[in-house]
Amino acid sequence: MRDAGLRGEDGISREYGEAMKILVTGGLGFIGSTFVRLLLTERPTWTITNLDAMTYAGNPANLADVAGDSRYHFVHGDIADATAVRTSTSGGVDAIVNFAAETHVDRSILDPEAFLRTDILGVHTLLEAVREQGIARYVQVSTDEVYGDVASGESVETDALRPRSPYSASKAGGDLQVLAYATTFGVPALITRGSNTYGPRQYPEKLIPLFVTNLIDDQPVPVYGDGLQIRDWLHAEDHARGILHVLEHGHVGEIYNIGGGNPRTNLEITQTLIDACGRSMETHVTHVKDRPGHDRRYAISSRKAADLGWEPRIPFADGLAATVQWYQQNEAWWRPLKSGEFRDYYHRQYANR
Ligand code: TYD
Repeated sequence: MRDAGLRGEDGISREYGEAMKILVTGGLGFIGSTFVRLLLTERPTWTITNLDAMTYAGNPANLADVAGDSRYHFVHGDIADATAVRTSTSGGVDAIVNFAAETHVDRSILDPEAFLRTDILGVHTLLEAVREQGIARYVQVSTDEVYGDVASGESVETDALRPRSPYSASKAGGDLQVLAYATTFGVPALITRGSNTYGPRQYPEKLIPLFVTNLIDDQPVPVYGDGLQIRDWLHAEDHARGILHVLEHGHVGEIYNIGGGNPRTNLEITQTLIDACGRSMETHVTHVKDRPGHDRRYAISSRKAADLGWEPRIPFADGLAATVQWYQQNEAWWRPLKSGEFRDYYHRQYANR
């Protein structure tokens, strides 16, 4: 077991933090790549291994700017493959932060199996590595969707899990494995539950990047049902900072909600994006058949993370305007993603609505 003395319950000590070796999984994805970039900038003495399966959502372009950095190493592999996990931890790591996941609710309705493999079995494989190798910290990046539909008030970390989609049920399964390993085997694990995240480099299947890129192309945007569903929006950089804060200061065995504090209906988001792209609701919104089992509202209290010293910094209006601008200025990033596999998915998802 490495650095056993540092496995205390009060966060990672300063000396230890100075030369941290960290395994980030799913680091080619949207939030994972934001996290890797944050570490390289703000924790310059750390070294990072990124284990990523390079599924449709894992995009090397997301980290093309850091690929030559000697503090960063890439391993191509699946978190559900114990050999790949062993390879990526072979030099010894101090912490694992798990971003690797299937994340899109609509895909989980079309094809649930991949979600079980990555979001449950993958978590199990990582937890086994933490247990076997005595890794000092494991942070599971989860989601507010595990609480299910929240009619009123805000979910707190002790609330029951009531997932209602194959996606959120598999994330809840992952969370429960983490908590069970913490209880049964004393694995030093923590969980973060983030709210809906937005920002540059998000795969254009999710609401904001799908709508922005459609609008840039003068295409309509498909609003599910009445569009009055509510999500709480969090900028990816604030989310990444929240996860880093929990890694460094969180208490083992605990769960931390990380919410943006920006509740909006989907129609409000749509209106803002339409305005930012110079289109109109009349010509560019199509109301399509609702998502089956669509959660009406998510809302979390981030009080516990705030007590730990984290709070979001980016005002929503600024973050959203900058995000729209990023998609306008980075067509070379998203255009290739909207061809090929995406076209098939878009057809399956939207053609019969
Ligand atoms: P999404 O970005 O898929 O995130 P999640 O379902 O995990 O919250 O969707 C955000 C909201 O936008 C959700 O209420 C579904 C809605 N939505 C649409 O109305 N149309 C779309 O084409 C998409 C992708 C989402």
